[in-house]
Amino acid sequence: MAKLFEPITIGNLTLANRIVIAPMCQYSAEDGRMTDWHAMHLGNLAQSGAGILTIEATAVAPEGRISYADVGLWDDETETAMGKVLESVRRWSDMPIAIQLGHAGRKASTAKPWDGGGQIAPDAENGWQTVSASDLPFLAHENAPEALDKAGLDRIRDAFADAARRAARLGIDAVQIHGAHGYLLHQFLSPLSNRREDEYGGSLENRMRFPLEVYDAVRAAFPADKPVTMRVSGTDWVEGGWDIEQTVAFAKALEARGCAAYHVSSGGLDAGQKIPVGPNYQVPLARKVREAVSMPVIAVGLITEPEQAEAIVATGEADMIGLARTVLYDPRWPWHAAAALGATVKAAPQFLRCQPRVYKDLFVQA
Ligand SMILES: Cc1cc2nc3c(=O)[nH]c(=O)nc-3n(C[C@H](O)[C@H](O)[C@H](O)COP(=O)(O)O)c2cc1C
Repeated sequence: MAKLFEPITIGNLTLANRIVIAPMCQYSAEDGRMTDWHAMHLGNLAQSGAGILTIEATAVAPEGRISYADVGLWDDETETAMGKVLESVRRWSDMPIAIQLGHAGRKASTAKPWDGGGQIAPDAENGWQTVSASDLPFLAHENAPEALDKAGLDRIRDAFADAARRAARLGIDAVQIHGAHGYLLHQFLSPLSNRREDEYGGSLENRMRFPLEVYDAVRAAFPADKPVTMRVSGTDWVEGGWDIEQTVAFAKALEARGCAAYHVSSGGLDAGQKIPVGPNYQVPLARKVREAVSMPVIAVGLITEPEQAEAIVATGEADMIGLARTVLYDPRWPWHAAAALGATVKAAPQFLRCQPRVYKDLFVQA
């Protein structure tokens, strides 16, 4: 039996297999409201046979969006729009759905990637003043963020909790807090972007303080029987930055607070990063964390082949694997993986007739 297709439990949530669809921004929202693009896109991925589907980075406040076209969950309008999409997706799929809640901090206020992705100035159309741990811009030429004061931190922490309550109302199965890729919580974690001199900066304990406060607030706001998880960058790939040892310490602190899973990505904080991109390039980071904690750990990054994914979970480098580009390119990747590994996968009754003859036991009716 392929390990990749063995069920796994995160908190109280049992997944049919170990394939996680990673969050993927679509830059297709209107004032934070999901559109029919999201119904189509998420509806498609919900037919993929993966164990869980993660909704893209969803901003907890308007200024926390990466771009003006990002999804949000900060008021009744954004909640209603997401509810409508979820109703459509769930009508045809029972795949568990997680949401990534985030705040972009100094990396907010950008153009869509296909429009260049650069920062939009606060006084230009679709731009706004960004905030961060310190007043250091991501790129030297960019408009600098405002350093958050205590009232600002409390407001953002409360916005995370409020979004988690809205997610719960929408019946979302799990929350993933975005602590990765150089966005706000990572800006607090990394000594490269956090130069604060108060209790939120300096020592590792201080730099972890705000992300842990956000975790605690989300955990308290989201139903106790549903998992709250964290996504992190396992390293900044910059000398003197956030690294794997600190990532492990953060994992331990979260685990002690009941965190249900830890998704290990990397980079995104500093333009000087040197990433050794290649198949499995982030897997060693996940393995280091997994050796130190007992909550499930997810590895992600250029995992493209079924045998590769199987080897990662079978050898215990990670408990689950995350897919982004791979599953965008081929939304039936889990079907192909099940076929290649001799496993079975759920398929909607509308699709059963496409089961290839050579894999006659591939599909289980959803
Ligand atoms: C189109 C696209 C959008 C993404 N949006 C997000 C996001 O919203 N949140 C996040 O944490 N990572 C995001 N990522 C990163 C992926 O989740 C993933 O970590 C990364 O692409 C590496 O996995 P892959 O090699 O399977 O693509 C995005 C990646 C892509 C390709």
